[in-house]
Amino acid sequence: MNGERVAVCPGSFDPITLGHVDIIRRSFRMADRVIVGVAHSATQVKSGMFTVDERVEMIRETFQDEPRVEAVAFQGLLVDFARRMGAGIIVRGLRAVSDFEYEFQMALMNRRLWDGMETVFLAPDVEHSYLSSSLVRQIASLGGDAAPFVPEVVLRRLQARFGPGA
Ligand code: PNS
Repeated sequence: MNGERVAVCPGSFDPITLGHVDIIRRSFRMADRVIVGVAHSATQVKSGMFTVDERVEMIRETFQDEPRVEAVAFQGLLVDFARRMGAGIIVRGLRAVSDFEYEFQMALMNRRLWDGMETVFLAPDVEHSYLSSSLVRQIASLGGDAAPFVPEVVLRRLQARFGPGA
């Protein structure tokens, strides 16, 4: 569509948390459509808890009533993916100062790789500022209750894997 503002919200999403959901929803303040890009972790040794297909599926289920959100897996460089998808904005959530250095480095590198791209950092709801997928994975796998931190569809999958305590 002409003049449509498309944002990419990239990440590992292993699994998507309520913090991600919050950032994706906030992206609509600056974009008409949000593409949630699930990266194949080509540069990481670990394969993760959920497969990339499962992560995409959980994002799709989470946003099944929101047609402006599309979940897509990608391989290779984020800027190439964004360009292919017609997106000019990368949206990343910044939870704390400790996130900043890595995020800033990626933003500058991505712009160096493709000048058509701007990275925008969004602050999450304070309620989600301490949330991360890795903590959710730990909590669920150690028998803790992940319910306050993830969408219902994710909770069901965690419970299927780790039992009703997750
Ligand atoms: O949720 P994460 O793990 O913090 O997300 C990191 C992600 C996927 C955004 C980053 O690793 C990425 O962009 N990967 C794609 C490969 C790429 O473009 N690398 C160069 C970044 S400057």
